[in-house]
Amino acid sequence: MIKESAWITPCTGIDDGAAEFVKHISVKGDIKKAALVVTAIGVYDAYINGRRVGDFILAPGCTAYNKRLQYQAYDITGMLDNENELVITVGKGWHRSRMSENRPEINTKPCALIAQITLEYKHGKTETVCTDKAWKCRRSRIVFNDIWDGETYDASLKTGELFDVKEAELDKSVLIEQEGEKVCEREVFLPQKLIITPKGEKVLDFGQEITGYVEFSVNAKAGETVELSCGEVLDADGNFYNDNYRSAKSKMKYICADGKQTWKPRMTFYGFRYIRIDAYPGDVDADNFRAIAVYSDIERSGYIKTSNEKVNKLFENTLWSQRDNFLDIPTDCPQRDERMGWTGDAQVFAKTACYNFNTKRFFEKWLADLRAEQRTDGSIPDTVPNFWKIMRSSAAWGDAMTVIPWQVYLMYGDKKTLEDNFDAMKAWVDFMGADSLDKYLWTCPDDSDKMWRKHYGDWLALDAPNDGWRGKTPDNFIASAFYAYSTDILVRAGKALGRDMSEYEKLHGNIVKTFKNTFNELTTQTEHTLALCFGLTDDREKTAAKLAKMIRENGNKLKTGFVGTPYLMYALSENGYADVAYDLLLQEEYPSWLYEVNHGATTVWEHWDGIKEDGTFWSTEMNSFNHYAYGSVCGWIYSHAGGIRPDENAPGFERVIIAPVITGKIDGIEVKYRSVKGDIVSKWQNTPNGVRYEITAPVPITLIIDGKVRELGAGSYTFGG
Ligand code: BGC
Repeated sequence: MIKESAWITPCTGIDDGAAEFVKHISVKGDIKKAALVVTAIGVYDAYINGRRVGDFILAPGCTAYNKRLQYQAYDITGMLDNENELVITVGKGWHRSRMSENRPEINTKPCALIAQITLEYKHGKTETVCTDKAWKCRRSRIVFNDIWDGETYDASLKTGELFDVKEAELDKSVLIEQEGEKVCEREVFLPQKLIITPKGEKVLDFGQEITGYVEFSVNAKAGETVELSCGEVLDADGNFYNDNYRSAKSKMKYICADGKQTWKPRMTFYGFRYIRIDAYPGDVDADNFRAIAVYSDIERSGYIKTSNEKVNKLFENTLWSQRDNFLDIPTDCPQRDERMGWTGDAQVFAKTACYNFNTKRFFEKWLADLRAEQRTDGSIPDTVPNFWKIMRSSAAWGDAMTVIPWQVYLMYGDKKTLEDNFDAMKAWVDFMGADSLDKYLWTCPDDSDKMWRKHYGDWLALDAPNDGWRGKTPDNFIASAFYAYSTDILVRAGKALGRDMSEYEKLHGNIVKTFKNTFNELTTQTEHTLALCFGLTDDREKTAAKLAKMIRENGNKLKTGFVGTPYLMYALSENGYADVAYDLLLQEEYPSWLYEVNHGATTVWEHWDGIKEDGTFWSTEMNSFNHYAYGSVCGWIYSHAGGIRPDENAPGFERVIIAPVITGKIDGIEVKYRSVKGDIVSKWQNTPNGVRYEITAPVPITLIIDGKVRELGAGSYTFGG
């Protein structure tokens, strides 16, 4: 048990560098099995006799550290000689980097390690080596590291001198086994070109925005440096640009030793497509560089192919934004001074995420952090783990607590997901009711004059007054709509678990009734969308017609933000306006999904006009080019355009509903989903003889075509003409 070991910390300060904890291990016989169990306050990697243990990057991962700190177990049988040097390097990680400075109770903890080595001998004895005062420590050549600011490695530094360590009184009750997917190196990209910009900068273009780092080789003299800066896009003149990283320095700096050498960072990550070479000894040869994508070991499960190449590119970009932002926690973005588990972004993207990749384990681990961070009043912080400076609980953000367990349950069919989260879901719903000024709504005093108010509203919507960040839809409308939605989900979840939900059913009825009485005049696109999607309008036909009209009159363009956009396509296509939904999907002018594609996006942008028509940028304050929220449209392509949907009564694809939404606006769509029950394919194609369907599924199918249930199984069919 790792808990028998002591937390140890260096006796000498290591400032912003990483520390190397060193232990000599003698093996006294033939080894049957050997294991290393380890975690740290920070991030670590372990080497035995110069060989890396495992391939986990940035272990122990990111959790609500004050309650949950994962440890990892590695099989090291076969790595040991008779005499061994174990070196575990501990950097600052999420725990001690600038990003968690607003949580001093986490951020001011010391650099520390806890580990246990178990040696099972063939002769039957077992020996354990625990971290204790006998371990030693030395400075690492990683002289600076920080999640936002990057890493500096001094290969010329003499680091041999060993110092003592001391035992530290740090909590062991927080230690838990590894729960999430491991984080590891995935795809590798070679530079597509070396650009000399108009300003004369040397910039490598890797062709794809990724999260990870760069590995390079260099032939140099000791003391010479390689320095790299990261950027997502080039500016209108083709120069390097990264003002939108805000305070995150995101630098890679390497101080050379003599000779040929290769290096990559180990204690941090970067979001980038372009790398500016600020220093490099000798001529830059692009062949000496490669970019390595690093993210959670999630397995691909969804495929979309349409007859429109630009929509296909949008899908590719969404996959990449997910990879780039699924580095142990679902983040908003991987590059600027945030990279946090923003709950709202995850809430709107969860459905798409579950189609694209098998994210059961990933989300279940993060949901445990949501529960850990939930306050006693049931509120959920806006970022989980909670590293953010403002401790609030916004509507549509905190609803991650209900929306995500429900989505994960629908996709993977495991009741345990609901069981584990049910109390927390209920507490969130109760919180909204208790926090409200008015019964059966979630209302709060008007603090719209405040910069940091309770809710984020329809974040980044285009109907925001004065070009601001918050759309026009009132906070109380959004909060009350989500109160209804989350209560409805809670009722469904409770029923799936066989509980008596009559009290919450009654509550839901009252919320809906009060909502309709209170918000009887709908104005914005988002108001119409939420009213339709959450069952908050008596006159669906009129509401849908009005929404469609608003979009038509706006030139087939949306005005919605983070809250409205993810639900907009459903509001339209489920209420008779699939043609309007497709016009939005296929729109190429600003604002639209394909506008970004036309402007060279390789990931999904945070802001509809991240790059404006004239090539200039939206404000540096909030302009990430790698935010998956709007990629949530792919969820609609899977479940509606292509038509593969889980059946709530037979979750986990015990049964599948196939109900494609056909249009004459494109030739055809094929979606494939590798469900836990096997591959499901739905393909439709417009032909001169009608629409041809090809359906494959290893489970019973409810096939709905043109709104009619067809008594048909898997196969090929043609209807219409
Ligand atoms: C983040 C978001 C987040 C938002 C809250 C931003 O800074 O990047 O994606 O949801 O703040 O409004």
